[in-house]
Amino acid sequence: MLEQHYSIDLYSGDGAIPRDELLRQIAGKDALICLLSERVDATVMDAAPGLKVVANIAVGYDNIDISAARARRIVVTNTPDVLTDAVAEFTWALILAVARRVAEGDRLVRGGSWKGWGLDFMLGMELRGKQLGILGAGRIGRAVAAKAPAFGMTAVFARHDMPLDQLLVTSDVISIHTPGGPETRHLINRKALARMKRSALLVNTARGSIVDEEALAWALEERLIAGAALDVYEREPEVSPILKTFENVLLVPHLGSATRETRTAMADLAVRNVLAVLGGDPPLTPV
Ligand code: GLV
Repeated sequence: MLEQHYSIDLYSGDGAIPRDELLRQIAGKDALICLLSERVDATVMDAAPGLKVVANIAVGYDNIDISAARARRIVVTNTPDVLTDAVAEFTWALILAVARRVAEGDRLVRGGSWKGWGLDFMLGMELRGKQLGILGAGRIGRAVAAKAPAFGMTAVFARHDMPLDQLLVTSDVISIHTPGGPETRHLINRKALARMKRSALLVNTARGSIVDEEALAWALEERLIAGAALDVYEREPEVSPILKTFENVLLVPHLGSATRETRTAMADLAVRNVLAVLGGDPPLTPV
């Protein structure tokens, strides 16, 4: 779509573009299509004085300095809606996997130490009749909640259905779906974790910054919660080594939206946003 009308400079290296290369390549460009691994701040924007649009291929945009963009009249777009179902499905994959110890069982079988079926062997937590506490009542949080009845769970939203503290105290599974950024940084800290049931599970498919990883390790060590499933981390792709030592923690590499269908739709939406802005039309999904 893009190359019919514009010339494109594509970074085709493995992984995230190195910062100095981004700063070099962006000079003279009108548009940037970027990933959540790129920090797009005032320095990047000032390296391209003609920049008109930054299209993030992600729904979250805590990697972009929005006020710096506004000050420079640069349009910022994200990719909402197209990934909602993929992330909600993946959240349920994590809830089910951590509740039923799927990854732990896989490790055991591969490790060759499975001794056979046992009446009380590797028991997990049944979901039916339990409360699912959801932080963040946006598109993804609501899509996760919509699937709760299929598993016999009651979904409740922090602030909407009950105060956060009550949700922490009463929920059996807590799933995070708030945006990242300064407002939610370490929302789940030592104090919050200490309020959770000892039998409760924490699931994070939103942003790593929302959970204080050091506090989570402490809560697991003290057995203040029963387990956690994390798709996102404070310093991706780094994962704190201590978290890897807990059998009751499921660690996956930021895969929430990673289906062929959804990633194609996200890239497509980012391109259409750029075409709209450069063509003088309003962006489809501005932030
Ligand atoms: C992925 O984490 C996204 O924000 O789309």
